[in-house]
Amino acid sequence: MNERILELFQAQPEVYVSGEELSRRLGCSRTAIWKHIRELREAGYEFEASPRKGYRLLKKPAKLSAAELLSGLATQTMGHKLHIYDEVDSTQLVAHALIAQGASEGTLVLAESQTAGRGRMGRKWHSPPGKGIWMSLVLKPLIPVYFMPQLTLLTAVALCRSIQQVCGADIGIKWPNDLLIGGKKVSGILLESSGEDERLKYVIAGIGISANLLAADYPEELRGIATSLAIETGAEVRREKLIQAFLLEFEELYRLYHEKGFAPIKLLWEALSVSLHRPIRTTTGQGVIEGMAEAIDDSGALIVLTPSGERINVYSGDVEHA
Ligand code: BTN
Repeated sequence: MNERILELFQAQPEVYVSGEELSRRLGCSRTAIWKHIRELREAGYEFEASPRKGYRLLKKPAKLSAAELLSGLATQTMGHKLHIYDEVDSTQLVAHALIAQGASEGTLVLAESQTAGRGRMGRKWHSPPGKGIWMSLVLKPLIPVYFMPQLTLLTAVALCRSIQQVCGADIGIKWPNDLLIGGKKVSGILLESSGEDERLKYVIAGIGISANLLAADYPEELRGIATSLAIETGAEVRREKLIQAFLLEFEELYRLYHEKGFAPIKLLWEALSVSLHRPIRTTTGQGVIEGMAEAIDDSGALIVLTPSGERINVYSGDVEHA
């Protein structure tokens, strides 16, 4: 009900809506409306209440709001089961625990801050409070374990396209799944899974987006390599809008992937990649590989053409652009 109330106010911002109209449009009593407005106020929404004109929405909360997120969510499944926390160790760990209790596909875990945010390759992920989007999405894809890298690339495509739409940022994907603006990282993806006999039981897509961090929010060692959407575009990001756009984009690509396989996702990834057709350097289990990033193969591996003419498929690791 709180979501429907917010939808009404957001459809006509700045306008007073009377208690009578609210109760008529939502089919409930004036007392029920009053109770819901009180709940929204407690969640940080500010309303002006005029005895003759009704209610007017003045301010939305700075904290992530479940009601607002759900009120504009156009997906069928992704994000409808929502868990929002002020502080967790890692949203990945919370998602693992929720799955153990039966959480279904599309369940989304969000936190204002993480004390032990996890990055790829055992690194830490800087997750200060209130400014980023730190989230984990539960997936139960019908694919074998060895297709996981494809899902990672799909997630990067969905994220890149939603950031382009909502923030108008000139953003690209560095293989496999770092999102960069002007060579600096704004977002990272970590997929964790559990499987049995080559079949995936579940995947948790962990996504970190540095949305509204300022330069002062980064520790010294990250300043030269990381940036935020707000720093790069000069505008504050409405986090709920970006999450909604990502979930919709992800759901559509995920459906396409299940229907048509990896080929269309691969094309989209290639179009957004800033790694392809560039000299790169990567450290893998087999040592350092240098060469031209030529393409990705059907499993999502990066094909590197070395100066000696050898083609090497790189399955995991970090890439440095030369
Ligand atoms: C990387 O680029 O190294 C991946 C970073 C992934 C960070 C996100 S933030 C939400 C989710 N919870 C975590 O602990 N990690 C992921």
